[in-house]
Amino acid sequence: MDKQAILAEYERQAELGGGEARRQRQHDAGKLTARERVDLFFDPGTFRETDKLVTHRCRDFGMESQLVPGDGVVAGHGEVDGRPVYAFAQDFTVFGGSLSETNAAKIVKVMDLAVQNGAPIVGLNDSGGARIQEGVASLAGYADIFLRNTLASGVVPQLSAIMGPCAGGAVYSPAITDFTVMVERTSYMFVTGPEVIRTVTHETVSKEDLGGAMTHNAKSGVAHFAVANDQDCLALLRALLGYLPSNNLDDPPRTETADPIDREDAALDALVPELPNQPYDILDLIRSIADDGAFLEVHRHYARNIVVGFARLGGQPVGIVANQPAHLAGVLDIDASVKGARFVRFCDAFNVPLVTLEDVPGFLPGTQQEYGGIIRHGAKLLFAFAEATVPKLTVVTRKAYGGAYCVMASKHIRTDVNFAWPTAEIAVMGPEGAVNILYKRELDAADDAEALRRERVSEFRDKLANPFVAAGRGFLDEVIAPRTTRPRLIRALRSLDGKRDRHPPKKHGNIPL
Ligand code: HXC
Repeated sequence: MDKQAILAEYERQAELGGGEARRQRQHDAGKLTARERVDLFFDPGTFRETDKLVTHRCRDFGMESQLVPGDGVVAGHGEVDGRPVYAFAQDFTVFGGSLSETNAAKIVKVMDLAVQNGAPIVGLNDSGGARIQEGVASLAGYADIFLRNTLASGVVPQLSAIMGPCAGGAVYSPAITDFTVMVERTSYMFVTGPEVIRTVTHETVSKEDLGGAMTHNAKSGVAHFAVANDQDCLALLRALLGYLPSNNLDDPPRTETADPIDREDAALDALVPELPNQPYDILDLIRSIADDGAFLEVHRHYARNIVVGFARLGGQPVGIVANQPAHLAGVLDIDASVKGARFVRFCDAFNVPLVTLEDVPGFLPGTQQEYGGIIRHGAKLLFAFAEATVPKLTVVTRKAYGGAYCVMASKHIRTDVNFAWPTAEIAVMGPEGAVNILYKRELDAADDAEALRRERVSEFRDKLANPFVAAGRGFLDEVIAPRTTRPRLIRALRSLDGKRDRHPPKKHGNIPL
């Protein structure tokens, strides 16, 4: 056989993967194959595969007669919207996509290339875990990947898609990456599966309940996105990359927008209800200010009392962090603090300016929160905002009470531009709580305690629960008309285009984990 023919035969085998029957099984399970995924993910015709002819070196358990070129992972680089991206896709049709010494080396190679060339790395996971026949050589491969994930963190964006099994120690690679997308019904993640759990803790739980897409999106917060199928997953990964720079030295890509930067929205003047405890949907504000109303929400199903995600303002990508009065009154609890902190740190690492929309009654009271460490977890959000050196803008729409006022990107923790709507209430606590403490004796002795309480609450509200005290001290730069929020934010953002801020020299901070 001539060499061209040999090469063609190797390539044919690589493309066939585990064979027609296993490919059919993959399709029957509602999943695409690794190659189909890669082709769909990259701009058409741009994918270049590396190490297509690599085979495993295992000589035990009859493995020497089972050699599949590529060894269960498709790796290489291509373009997404014309920008270079590196990727690997585990091929479940080859030994269940399990990680061998050699296919780990392929993954490590593209990760190293991504970092050296300042391009994002995307992992499409679909694997039975460590290749059982290879023992510690496979475990070593995982550790090599974990180290690369850690070193690449904050240097290039790392995205993980879970498109099949991802179990055992294998979960820790996606866990270190910046964003994890899970496909509903076909993917699951857990450290130990239902069988081990039944033996150890006598709990009975299904794979789906234990580690399915909605479990990790709504309960654990391990995953940031849930999608209906492989096609949606790959489209989402592309959309997400559209907001991100290729690396930490680049700015996020700006786009032309037909949405006028001076567009006002009169509806915002009536967004905050008359009654202070009445909810409204902060997504209405986000969609109103964003270019074309487009908002890519991250962690949508988790800690819904805080909303985080990406939008564009005047063509410039921004990260939005917003309290959600429509869920638990927008209170900050443990999960919301952790969710917000992680997002803020991502944006700061990758030069994405932060826009904070604030309406927060404070931190959630209760033994559950205190025992759970709300002090430690709330501190994460505070630390993350204070540490961030990207352009930071805040709009207080209504409540900014107590510690939560300080935490939510207040002027005091290096926020560049702080706006408030006339409806803002900035105080140590809400008027009702404050009156109960300040006038306790007076209220206890009063004939008509309710009338006195109403009077004192109204007095307190007029005197302290407004934006004017803070504006009078320069803690707010301006009180703005709600309808002008979009143009004001865009102008402010542009004024911060050349922002340079720094930290005192240190190895790294010690965020309260
Ligand atoms: C080698 C594996 C494999 C593995 C699956 N296969 N997992 N081969 N090593 N880890 C092979 C199967 O033998 C089978 O080969 C093919 O892949 C498809 O597997 P099926 O079992 O037929 O598929 P399915 O019914 O869909 O079940 C998928 C599965 C199951 C749930 C993932 O295969 C499974 O439980 N595998 C073992 C999972 C596991 O315990 N892995 C180690 C975890 S510990 P054929 O030839 O029949 O097609 C770990 C440690 C990481 O990963 C540590 C990092 C620090």
